[in-house]
Amino acid sequence: MSKVVFIGGGNMASCLIGGMLANGFSNADILVSEPNAESRQRIEATHGISTTGDNGAAVSAADIVVLAVKPQVMGAVAAPLADSLTHNPIVVSIAAGIPVSALENWMGDALTIVRAMPNTPAMVQAGATGLFASKALNANQQSTIEGIFNAVGYACWVNKEADIDAVTAVSGSGPAYFFLVYEAMQKVGEELGLDTETSAQLTLNTALGAAKLALHSDQKPEVLRKQVTSPGGTTQAAIESFQAQDIENVFRTAMSSALNRAQEMSDDFSK
Ligand SMILES: NC(=O)c1ccc[n+]([C@@H]2O[C@H](COP(=O)([O-])OP(=O)(O)OC[C@H]3O[C@@H](n4cnc5c(N)ncnc54)[C@H](OP(=O)(O)O)[C@@H]3O)[C@@H](O)[C@H]2O)c1
Repeated sequence: MSKVVFIGGGNMASCLIGGMLANGFSNADILVSEPNAESRQRIEATHGISTTGDNGAAVSAADIVVLAVKPQVMGAVAAPLADSLTHNPIVVSIAAGIPVSALENWMGDALTIVRAMPNTPAMVQAGATGLFASKALNANQQSTIEGIFNAVGYACWVNKEADIDAVTAVSGSGPAYFFLVYEAMQKVGEELGLDTETSAQLTLNTALGAAKLALHSDQKPEVLRKQVTSPGGTTQAAIESFQAQDIENVFRTAMSSALNRAQEMSDDFSK
């Protein structure tokens, strides 16, 4: 088994570790380095794994280092690690908006760096993660990294680093798009006469059911939509209203804004 060391023991590290332990990783193979003693105690108590406050010592025995700190402290955390990474572990960064070039500047360009973009449903093992590797990985490295992120949901590789910005626009920010739809459907359901709880439960279970149905089907979304839209029926009335307001273009504009913002953030770190 590979030794996986987390730098930063916050929310995302904790949810990845919980998923890993539930999916075949052993506690002995995971170590967390975290400056906050209270957080270290919480991690030890929750997951039964070892922790330390010494980032350099922690990474020196790692096969895979997962950088799980906030983007704004990444430079200050990553640069001092350079001397402890000369054995060339794979470095996985889950920080939003920090490009490979910045990570290489801080830690050295001989390293293989993986950028991962998970999303918050990882907290309930239903996340979606895009992965990009700066250099070729061997089969063992690739399967260990997939194992970390598959443990908290779905994970896939993208071929170019720029695609991580597209992943950010689709699944990184995506949960909020669905929360916005949830908010609107619940509110309108109430306006149509349902109580808050009933409207919320009907909305959420419909979202879950539609996603499950689509995942279990090999049909395109357009076909699935047409299958539940009888001519002249209630669904058609609603769909025609959405289409009259060019719903696809509403998403195109919104998701392009997310993509542009992700590119701007990466550019800031590349300077
Ligand atoms: N949460 C998400 O849904 C999500 C989704 C995609 C990507 N991400 C990325 O995941 C990363 C972590 O996010 P998070 O939500 O888990 O943040 P978080 O809960 O704040 O966790 C970050 C942890 O890093 C610790 N830390 C700070 N300085 C450190 C240092 N010098 N050495 C080691 N650890 C240090 C922090 O300790 P203190 O609390 O003591 O400062 C904290 O426990 C971010 O870069 C974020 O962009 C998060």
